[in-house]
Amino acid sequence: MPEQKEIDLRAAINAISDVIENRPRSLREFDQIYMKAGDMVLQSELVARWAGGKRLAFIGDGDAISVCVAYLQKREIINRGPSEIVVFDFDERICSAVTRFADKEGIENLSAVLYNCLDPFPGPTDFDCFYTNPPWGASNEGESVKVFMQRGMEAVAYDGEGMVVIADDPELEWPKRVLANVQAFAISNNFFVQKMMSQLHSYHLDDAPNLRSCNLIFKSLPGSKHILESLPITDPEQLNHFYGRDNSPRVRYVREKKRLDYGKAHEDEYSLELLESE
Ligand SMILES: C[S@@+](CC[C@H](N)C(=O)[O-])C[C@H]1O[C@@H](n2cnc3c(N)ncnc32)[C@H](O)[C@@H]1O
Repeated sequence: MPEQKEIDLRAAINAISDVIENRPRSLREFDQIYMKAGDMVLQSELVARWAGGKRLAFIGDGDAISVCVAYLQKREIINRGPSEIVVFDFDERICSAVTRFADKEGIENLSAVLYNCLDPFPGPTDFDCFYTNPPWGASNEGESVKVFMQRGMEAVAYDGEGMVVIADDPELEWPKRVLANVQAFAISNNFFVQKMMSQLHSYHLDDAPNLRSCNLIFKSLPGSKHILESLPITDPEQLNHFYGRDNSPRVRYVREKKRLDYGKAHEDEYSLELLESE
């Protein structure tokens, strides 16, 4: 394993800033709530080390941590990272933001697949680890987290590690119930909690600006490898309140209408009042 390199913070923040410029605007109705930039820097470095030399699947990734991890490695700002990264997301804008950035920067080990996690997992199922920052399940006791986690576990054939990023707030009751349910779900699938890193990340969330999330890192028990038939999610218990109270899924894919240059102002955001011509 290469010795861990001291990170050049300025170079890292500037690299994350390139990724943010390329990111589509978030759609709140699907729980796209982006992580703040400083936390993205630290999270990307952590994920790169955790998944060093491994094949990593992202189940949803509006935050673009996948892109940050691959880009920091490509720019040699960090000297360790995954051997391959694939993002599975139902938003075509996010998938094309990933592929557009990978093409532009010549990042060969980063790709994206348009996929709704309510549908059977398309494979492959030979990843070593998965990462997900899912809808946090505030109104369904964590059922939506379990769906994203299940697809992650399928991606590694129930044999590997997973990093799950979910709410963690000492003042609120629902995150504690979700944390307990999610850990019980992991154990029922032969995964155990290897590490919990509490209250690490903040978000651009106007109605709860202080709500933090943690990293819950799971690892499978030895000898757990198996492939189950991947089934669609149809149980109303899992679907009700999926994206928040009374907000159950009704969309298979978010389609990109036109390719936008995301870092620039859109033409429909402003009009020009011209100088008087003499
Ligand atoms: C739900 S958001 C959670 C908040 C997180 N901080 C973010 O914005 O990325 C995570 C990602 O899941 C994706 N997503 C939401 N519903 C999905 C679904 N049914 N299938 C696959 N991806 C989905 C969103 O497009 C987003 O990129």
